[in-house]
Amino acid sequence: VVKSEVEPLAWRDGALHLLDQRRLPHEVVWLACASAGDVAAAIRDMVVRGAPAIGVAAAYGLALAARGGELSTLSEAAATLRAARPTAVNLAWAVDRMMAVAAPLAGAPARTVADALEREAVAIHQEDLEANRRIGAWGAALLTGGSTVLTHCNAGALATSGFGTALGVIRAAVAAGKSIRVLADETRPYLQGARLTAWELQQDGIDVTLITDNMSGYFFSRGEIDAVVVGADRIAANGDTANKIGTYTVAVLAQRHGVPFYVAAPWSTVDFATPDGGAIPIEERSREEVVEATGIDGEGVMRTISIAPAGIAARHPAFDVTPAELITAIITDRGVAEPPFESSLRRLGG
Ligand code: MRU
Repeated sequence: VVKSEVEPLAWRDGALHLLDQRRLPHEVVWLACASAGDVAAAIRDMVVRGAPAIGVAAAYGLALAARGGELSTLSEAAATLRAARPTAVNLAWAVDRMMAVAAPLAGAPARTVADALEREAVAIHQEDLEANRRIGAWGAALLTGGSTVLTHCNAGALATSGFGTALGVIRAAVAAGKSIRVLADETRPYLQGARLTAWELQQDGIDVTLITDNMSGYFFSRGEIDAVVVGADRIAANGDTANKIGTYTVAVLAQRHGVPFYVAAPWSTVDFATPDGGAIPIEERSREEVVEATGIDGEGVMRTISIAPAGIAARHPAFDVTPAELITAIITDRGVAEPPFESSLRRLGG
């Protein structure tokens, strides 16, 4: 029951196949990317999203570029992929790791470079899956049987190579025989909670109840939330953590109500080059995502409707920063870091 079958990307027949997350939960449609440009567009357009998943996708994008996609040089492809989304450090991390493999092969036959980059992308993909299993094992020990866990956005199988980070912790706890009930924030405006977290937990038969973002205070105040587990897009050296917009609000509420607030992320999300949250670039997406809503009508057709006055000013910062002082622990594949994070993260970094 608990092994997630959901995987958002697959490398097959020399192409990257992406589960089109814009169409979930209404339709399960796969999209093939044959070039780095295709992959960069898919990342920008949210066909694939979630910090680890966009890193893996970018790695395959470079493997495609090396095989001779439409982008003339590898470094051009690397720059395009890196710029696709700025906040999740996993994207830049994966691009750097791929380019470090390519660098010593300058001048080698094209086929040699392409094979080496394909092998590295497959390794990044596989290692992320294994990291999620380890995060799950560390994190499951922190959850008590019979508890209700609040999560925000989608840090699940869909956001990674599979299994998930925050949702991996929940899956592992359930697999260990603990009864866990999940409250999923819908996550305005892009609705990753309503569309993706609700869908993938339902697929796995995990007890999930959808709430709107502005309801969590009500459930905290009634003592109906025992723990919060969320993912991360970038963890600064001091533990400050960028994650989906609205995460900071949840962290403030959790502290007010004495509820533990856990961040779960693979080591590729930890960025020692960023000293604190103030240095994390925050992606600002289009106003349309705030003033419009997309759903499916009675005939099964996807439709976008307007939900605000025409021409109204609207903003969509896609992430916020939760200060380290609001975080109870950071669950990584290398172990659990506790405050003060400055030193505990360095220790895990070895
Ligand atoms: O804009 P998104 O959907 O890519 O944002 C995703 C999140 O904020 C996730 O919580 C984060 O990337 C961690 S995914 C394991």
